[in-house]
Amino acid sequence: MSEILVQGYHSLKGELEIQGSKNAALPMMAAAVLHKGTTVLNYVPRIQDVFCMMGILESMGCVCTMEGHRLTIDAGCLTDVRIPEKNGKAMRSSIVLLGALLGRSGEAYAHYPGGCSIGSRPIDMHLDALEKLGAVFREEEGIIHAQTMRLKGSTISFDYPSVGATENVLLAAAGAEGITVLKGAAREPEIAALCGMLQAMGAEIWGTGTDCLMIHGTRRYKDVVRDVPGDRIVTGTYLSAVMAAGGEGVFKRSSPKDLDCVVKTMEKAGAHIRILDDVLEVKMKGRPKAISVETNPYPGFPTDLQSMMMVLLAIGDGRGCLKETVFEGRFATAKELHKMGAGIIIEGKEACITGQKSLTGARVQACDLRGGAALVIAGLAAEGETVITECHHILRGYEDICRDLRCLGAVIRREA
Ligand code: EPZ
Repeated sequence: MSEILVQGYHSLKGELEIQGSKNAALPMMAAAVLHKGTTVLNYVPRIQDVFCMMGILESMGCVCTMEGHRLTIDAGCLTDVRIPEKNGKAMRSSIVLLGALLGRSGEAYAHYPGGCSIGSRPIDMHLDALEKLGAVFREEEGIIHAQTMRLKGSTISFDYPSVGATENVLLAAAGAEGITVLKGAAREPEIAALCGMLQAMGAEIWGTGTDCLMIHGTRRYKDVVRDVPGDRIVTGTYLSAVMAAGGEGVFKRSSPKDLDCVVKTMEKAGAHIRILDDVLEVKMKGRPKAISVETNPYPGFPTDLQSMMMVLLAIGDGRGCLKETVFEGRFATAKELHKMGAGIIIEGKEACITGQKSLTGARVQACDLRGGAALVIAGLAAEGETVITECHHILRGYEDICRDLRCLGAVIRREA
């Protein structure tokens, strides 16, 4: 397996354009299945999860063409409604194809999805919601078979703002007869990107950006060309890198309007941040301040940046506290940071972190996508060399973290 090698103690200075959002591109790709025609998406990130989703769509009869960051999906003729086990288990996002396939063809076969091991990640909310829209589920040898004569609009209420379940309802309701009202919907910016695309395709949607969505489905869709927004989590990752190594960074197409809570938190930790349109500039001198952070659904602090925050507090100038309220198993990176000398004590949902002047380079293992990226950031702030193994996790969500950080002046390379 390939490894990433990072030399610590090099401050950063540079600028780069942020890749398109993984968590927006994947449901937007699923939306293309609703339309017996062609969909073009710009700024699609060239990452493993996108190639995996392309493989699923192609296995169903779609023709996918990726030129640079432009992805063309011709879903004119679907020949299958089965999500292949290997691809389905490779990433969580495959589950939103259930809603799209039910909306398009009234039938789908799926396996329980895979993805980062950051908790149990059940899909009960997805299945309950789709049942309310008229889907009938049977499970045979671990395969979920979903079927419906025609999805019919309904009123659905979520006890928790699940991002994926909200996307599944949107995709199914867009192909359903009548009106669907979803109360307690997730409000992540990726949901708004999906709503915008479905509206452009022909669905009527009210309440975008709020926790109450109303969808009037249709069977008549249009060919559309849509831009995938910049990846706010990748922006937050590289913002954290500058804060860990010191220096300055300029990030274009960075979706700063979707990072309010992150910007406020990082400013509290000592970063100087300036935003101009879609450009975010950050300057950082000295160690991060020791602060307390709690992850929450949007617009709160994103759980996907929790591991990066852990690294910043591990080199912070005092005792900080990190509370993870979204995923029950998302502190795995702490044990790797311990190998680098980090002072982290985990108690249930909370991590108490005593900041060290610096960390020590070590051989560490990426356990999941964002935790792996956080270990790269820890390497920037460590004395000597840090080797991150199992970095295939990182390739699922970052086009080329080494290329990007080298743009900022980091001394980093990947060895196959
Ligand atoms: C999406 O995952 C993102 N993935 C995650 O990003 C992100 O961390 C998460 O939303 C929260 O923002 C994609 O968009 C592909 P959830 P998702 O459903 O949809 C529980 C990354 O690094 N839950 O909002 O799986 C669940 O167990 C990834 O890019 C149920 O109990 O997140 C979790 O505790 C990691 N039953 C909580 O809700 C359900 O049916 C939030 O999950 C669904 C969810």
